[in-house]
Amino acid sequence: MTESTPVFEIIPAHVAIIMDGNGRWAAARGLPRLAGHRAGTENLRRIIDASIEFGIRHLTLYAFSTENWGRPREEVDGLLSILQEVIDREVKDLHENGVRLRHIGHLEHLSPGLRTKVNEAIELTKNNDRLSLNLAFSYGGRDEIVCAVRQMIEDGIEIEQVDESLVNNYLFTKDIPDPDLIIRTSGEMRISNFLIWQSAYSEWYITPTFWPDFDRQQLIIALQEYARRDRRYGRISPSPCDPDGGDAG
Ligand code: IPE
Ligand code: IPE
Ligand code: MG
Repeated sequence: MTESTPVFEIIPAHVAIIMDGNGRWAAARGLPRLAGHRAGTENLRRIIDASIEFGIRHLTLYAFSTENWGRPREEVDGLLSILQEVIDREVKDLHENGVRLRHIGHLEHLSPGLRTKVNEAIELTKNNDRLSLNLAFSYGGRDEIVCAVRQMIEDGIEIEQVDESLVNNYLFTKDIPDPDLIIRTSGEMRISNFLIWQSAYSEWYITPTFWPDFDRQQLIIALQEYARRDRRYGRISPSPCDPDGGDAG
């Protein structure tokens, strides 16, 4: 039986997810941390499929931070081989489903073989436009800003040229709109160096659910919550008495 698509009053164009809690998911089952990371790739497909179904245009997944390089060698190597497995397993289907894969972060820290695989997947899917799947791997928001500043200096940018739009154009996310909704699983209430510039006006949704248990239904709940938010961007909501705001009177 196929589930019917829920009706959302408003759908965020860009959803970004901090996929956290794999280690605790595994510990709760008496399993090694890597088993949690592997389980965390099994729900990727259903979240991507649901994102396409609901009309989300950009899905950014935080898979590995610049700080995660500081984890024990065994865990880092395991995460790198899981990335390779996911690319091998998913890219053909992603391509057939009209998904464009992009990467934000530093591919140069990956082995040449893995780098080639990621680049081939990016190249293969570059004309797809149903969903842009932006993989944040070896990504850090501070690092992104440092790289942007260095590049501006290298390009000889003049002081008068520097504004928000120029900075945007120097970030890894330059062609990607800011995230409307950021979801963090596992209950942690922090940004952990994710999209620190781009999240200036993002809505946050934090769930205690560990990432491997985050499913279509949980995404629906997050999207319903988003639809109830009043995004004011520092301004005030239109009043019901405002002639432009509805019911004058
Ligand atoms: C998220 O799960 C995946 C990565 C950071 C790579 P964690 O590995 O952080 O899991 P917890 O937070 O320790 O449970
Ligand atoms: C953030 O999770 C990074 C990813 C989910 C990839 P972490 O588990 O690394 O973050 P902290 O240590 O809880 O801040
Ligand atoms: Mg964590």
